[in-house]
Amino acid sequence: MEIKKVGVVGCGLMGGGITEVCARAGYPVVVMEVNQALLDGGLSKIQTSLERAAKREKITVEEKDATLGRIKGTLSFDDFGDCDLVIEAVIENLDEKKKVFAGLDKVCPPHAYLASNTSCLSILDMAVTTQRPEQVLGLHFFSPVPVMRLTEIVKTIVTKDEAIDMARDFCKSIGKETVLCQDTPGFIANRLSMVFLVYVIRCYEQGLATKEDIDKTMRLGLNHPMGPLELSDFIGLDTVYYILSAMHEELKDPLFAPPTLLKKMVTAGHLGRKTGKGFYDYK
Ligand SMILES: NC(=O)c1ccc[n+]([C@@H]2O[C@H](COP(=O)([O-])OP(=O)(O)OC[C@H]3O[C@@H](n4cnc5c(N)ncnc54)[C@H](O)[C@@H]3O)[C@@H](O)[C@H]2O)c1
Repeated sequence: MEIKKVGVVGCGLMGGGITEVCARAGYPVVVMEVNQALLDGGLSKIQTSLERAAKREKITVEEKDATLGRIKGTLSFDDFGDCDLVIEAVIENLDEKKKVFAGLDKVCPPHAYLASNTSCLSILDMAVTTQRPEQVLGLHFFSPVPVMRLTEIVKTIVTKDEAIDMARDFCKSIGKETVLCQDTPGFIANRLSMVFLVYVIRCYEQGLATKEDIDKTMRLGLNHPMGPLELSDFIGLDTVYYILSAMHEELKDPLFAPPTLLKKMVTAGHLGRKTGKGFYDYK
């Protein structure tokens, strides 16, 4: 099935990036937030990102304007009534995501596909809140979405093959490579990478070295593009915490138990770049 119009729920770090990439590829996109201030903030970040791309001559000024013209913000599910594909990118909380899927199911046309950008939660749990579980799948993008080339496509035990074909074609049309994975906690990327991040945070908590030296070692000694503590700040410490908690609960593997330091930082509102303070200070 051809996707003509895309919906995105949540205009934070990931939803904003997904909106931008889809609109840049030529799709009209409607993006939803919980209130006007968050919607305005999300849309303004997309505008800044496109202006930066135009300044660096990655796109023309005309392309930037046309892309912005294809994006419509909304506060209501009703505006998803003519979307062929809606991608959910709200906070990493299963109850919140289930509410979103149930809401989308009521307004989206019967043929529409519903996807979640969750990092680790069960897609099937979201799918069964709808009347179309076979049309629900995972589309896990990576941050920053305009830069990262991969999308993980997640298939539940009931997702129909046509949904996977649609996802492959759609991702190709927005310039993404794909891999296919089963609906298991963390899929491929987070299942493997969270083991590393959680271990680094635990070592830092135990006083292995300063945060700067830990990050410098991984950047200069092992050629990582970003140090792991910088990366955690970039992802969002709340998101890292939610992912670890969900994986720990589901897999019952003590490897994924969120470190006390991470929990305390989230409680204090030190969420990384998005709040101006995490392991590092960004103010
Ligand atoms: N941060 C990452 O690097 C990353 C990477 C891949 C996937 N993800 C996943 O993407 C999802 C979003 O993460 P993020 O980093 O963009 O978080 P974020 O906190 O930056 O954005 C989430 C946004 O969703 C909005 N929201 C919450 N409930 C909503 C609702 N009911 N309707 C509409 N909007 C709602 C919030 O106001 C917020 O702006 C999570 O599931 C996360 O696990 C994150």
